[in-house]
Amino acid sequence: MKLALKHISALLLISVMIISCRGQLSDKPPIRHHFNMNFQERFNAQQENPFFEDGMAMRMPVEGTIARGNLRHDVALFEGLDEGGNYISEIPFELTREFLNRGRERYDIFCQMCHGGTGDGRGIIMTGGYGYVPAPTFHSDISRGMPDGEIYSAIANGVRNMPAYATQIPVEDRWAIVAYVRALQRSQYVPAVEMERYDIDLAELGRIFTEEQARLEALAAARAAGAGEEVSAERGEALFVRNACQACHSLDGTPGVGPTVAGLYGSERNFTDGTSAIADEEYIIESIVEPGALIVQGYDNVMVPYAHLSESELQSLVEFIRSLSEE
Ligand code: HEC
Ligand code: HEC
Repeated sequence: MKLALKHISALLLISVMIISCRGQLSDKPPIRHHFNMNFQERFNAQQENPFFEDGMAMRMPVEGTIARGNLRHDVALFEGLDEGGNYISEIPFELTREFLNRGRERYDIFCQMCHGGTGDGRGIIMTGGYGYVPAPTFHSDISRGMPDGEIYSAIANGVRNMPAYATQIPVEDRWAIVAYVRALQRSQYVPAVEMERYDIDLAELGRIFTEEQARLEALAAARAAGAGEEVSAERGEALFVRNACQACHSLDGTPGVGPTVAGLYGSERNFTDGTSAIADEEYIIESIVEPGALIVQGYDNVMVPYAHLSESELQSLVEFIRSLSEE
């Protein structure tokens, strides 16, 4: 009797286990015993609601009331202004390392692409020739002389052509950014009297700077004078690699984003405008400096002009491409 009971309960347990996990997927919606309040009528944003006289489902706050947490009576904190309506000259937070680091992080996210990593106004979108209104440098007397509240206000309200960042950056972060802008300014501008307090040999630093500057100028001058007038397939190959031409042009005959350059030299090219030409030196050079002039059939006009290449560099590229057709 005892044994039979044990068997029955074991059997029951196994059958429940088998039934409960069917082990297969189903596209059907799950069975709901209770809908609870999962599905209810409601209004979408901007929808009409005939219940109210003005027909709007979205309600304005009742006049004279302020939503919880929105009481902004501290104008210094929220607007950067004192009672007289002037910009405050001190950040209303304690300047800890953590606060500054937060400011740096936020600055790098929200300001750096325009005002530059060091605050010199040469952020990446300003240097690409995209036509943005230039962002000013923070290393000017005007900017250094600005009260903290004015920088805060630029973030909170925008300034002339610069949009406001109030929706993206909360109040405390705005002040952290102000603190970091101040740190950037300090990093580039320490008055000489203050420098005396530090153990730094200014004359030595100045010498290193002048030397480095002279080295860079000499390098640029050498480049401008076309140092390395040599024309060779080897130089062309190096240029091909250095300019990442192979990202779009294969050397082994397979088409990529652009046509392969293997066998290109001397072959007939057909263009989207219905014309055709033989790929000689002149054609190849034009294809590099003005790729949009003739578009090879079957390809898109995606190659940027390589107008910075010197005459000898272009001829070297031609030599390299020609060498691929010689074997
Ligand atoms: C999209 C590019 C852009 C971004 C991003 C940007 N700024 Fe600006 N900022 C500008 C431009 C452009 C001006 C000049 C506006 C004018 O004079 O019309 C300016 C002006 C300012 C000024 C006023 C300077 C003066 O001399 O009047 C301050 C301060 C400033 N920005 C701070 C910031 C801070 C802090 C951030 C990050 C929260 C930021 N900006 C993000 C483009 C930008
Ligand atoms: C982003 C991809 C891309 C890069 C990088 C690129 N090209 Fe091109 N190139 C193309 C495309 C696409 C075409 C075909 C459309 C056209 O004619 O403009 C082309 C066409 C050419 C042609 C004419 C080819 C033919 O079949 O007639 C030459 C020559 C050429 N490129 C050389 C170069 C050289 C040299 C470089 C590096 C300095 C380079 N390209 C970099 C995409 C690229």
